[in-house]
Amino acid sequence: MNKTADLPTPDTQQDTDWWRGAVIYQIYPRSFQDSNGDGIGDLLGIAQRLPHVASLGVDAVWISPFFKSPMKDFGYDVSDYCDVDPMFGTLADFDILIGAAHRLGLKVLIDLVLSHSSQDHHWFRESRKDKDNDYANWYVWADAKPDGTPPNNWLSIFGGSAWQWEPSRCQYYMHNFLTEQPDLNFHEPKVQEALLNTAHFWLGRGVDGFRLDTINFYVHDAQLRDNPALPVEERNPITAPAVNPYTWQNHLYDKTQPENLDFLRKFRAVLNEYHAAAVGEVGDDQRGLEILGQYTAGDDLMHMSYAFELLSDHMPTPDYITGVMTKIAEVAADGWVCWAFSNHDVPRHISRWNLTDAGARCFTTLMMCLRGSVCLYQGEELALPESEVAFEDLQDPYGKRFWPAFKGRDGCRTPMVWEPSNQNGGFSQGFPWLPVSHDHLNRAVSTQEQDPAAILHHYRRAVSFRHAHHALAKGSIDDLGTDGSILHFVRTQPDESIFCAFNLRHEPAVMEMPAGKWRQIGAELGSTGVAPDGRIHLGPWQPALLVRVT
Ligand code: BGC
Ligand code: MG
Repeated sequence: MNKTADLPTPDTQQDTDWWRGAVIYQIYPRSFQDSNGDGIGDLLGIAQRLPHVASLGVDAVWISPFFKSPMKDFGYDVSDYCDVDPMFGTLADFDILIGAAHRLGLKVLIDLVLSHSSQDHHWFRESRKDKDNDYANWYVWADAKPDGTPPNNWLSIFGGSAWQWEPSRCQYYMHNFLTEQPDLNFHEPKVQEALLNTAHFWLGRGVDGFRLDTINFYVHDAQLRDNPALPVEERNPITAPAVNPYTWQNHLYDKTQPENLDFLRKFRAVLNEYHAAAVGEVGDDQRGLEILGQYTAGDDLMHMSYAFELLSDHMPTPDYITGVMTKIAEVAADGWVCWAFSNHDVPRHISRWNLTDAGARCFTTLMMCLRGSVCLYQGEELALPESEVAFEDLQDPYGKRFWPAFKGRDGCRTPMVWEPSNQNGGFSQGFPWLPVSHDHLNRAVSTQEQDPAAILHHYRRAVSFRHAHHALAKGSIDDLGTDGSILHFVRTQPDESIFCAFNLRHEPAVMEMPAGKWRQIGAELGSTGVAPDGRIHLGPWQPALLVRVT
């Protein structure tokens, strides 16, 4: 018998490690493409625009929540985990979407919000009725203090106490986010079982994995101990703005409890049955990377964790990035990070860091050279700036609460722009739920397609560069260093070493070449090589990418 006939062909072979180093494109369904003219994006709209996503060369899409929801937090408040909200379509539409994605070679990750449900979920409707119904223990209920005030000092990220009074039980319930998002009680085994079943439901429908919302918020301290105050000098607002007093506490007890690991282990076992992968969002201002290291170590917890370090308000400097990578080597050497510059929760990085076109390109190339997986946020490939949304047009409850010190998240959630001629940028025939930003129109997809110098093409080249070099996707990161405005490191796989340097400044800079023989690569990304004087001369925002020659 021909021996090779026993081996699976590449087509049928499951690459279970696909997620490591992958590039994932985040779709915010409300704002991607509206197919039925109601001004709100939907699943069939996404399916229709998938060829654009595939043309970027990315490996997967992460679709923000489209489940049944009263939309108090625009889908992050789920009232039925196993159905599609009619506003976004039907389960049949989802099947069409997933089929279309798979035909284009795209994996599909969906966004499970398990830490809390909507107050409209039937579990909560029952739970809130009295103290001895079947769901009585499914949420975090606690008695008032003798003076009637909440059980402890825990705060909601969206403002105020984390406790809301429920007259019918004469008790408080806990919510880390809106009062309409009651926290599920993970100390109750039936809750864990019900949530694992939702994962089975979607994996059975063919999804390739999940983005898991706020995974370190699942379990709370059963003793409900107060969080200590953080000394002012130790505050490090990275997951919430500084004007939010949530950042003034040391969150020792309201999240990141040891029992969380037990649930993550059970979740991983479900994923393994389907060869699926998960990226968990870990939010903590004090211990984010340590938790990430813990949650992604070994192979029985999360595959990767979403990190906040590059979602920072300030433009990352070479020293900052070196510090972050060094810290990861210390506390998450065995783990795997998923990076993003932009998402649906923070102002777009073009505006956040006040980037020029050259700066935006350089950071994109840098991202594709970092160790970790990458999430690109819709519209990032067009270098869209943050939209100015007037108070009257505001939708995000977080923004309404903290306006104007913090304007919320609507500015990064305005509709995608596909073509410049249509007044809604080709997003919708109807009145869009958030206004299309006028200064986005000249950056529309169809306009950039026709301009070879547009950043959209740079994104395609950068993604393809990453895929062409295994060392960039999966290799180690070594010899990290800075030289003034230059950040440099080497990415290594057994068969390939790539030297990467980036000049993160508007002025030119020079550095010495590391020892050894190197050949310039990445000319299509504007990379430079070694000059006749044996040094590397970098223009403003220029990278140098070189492969070791043996
Ligand atoms: C999501 C937010 C959401 C929150 C509550 C997150 O971190 O990304 O958009 O508001 O979780 O679910
Ligand atoms: Mg619609």
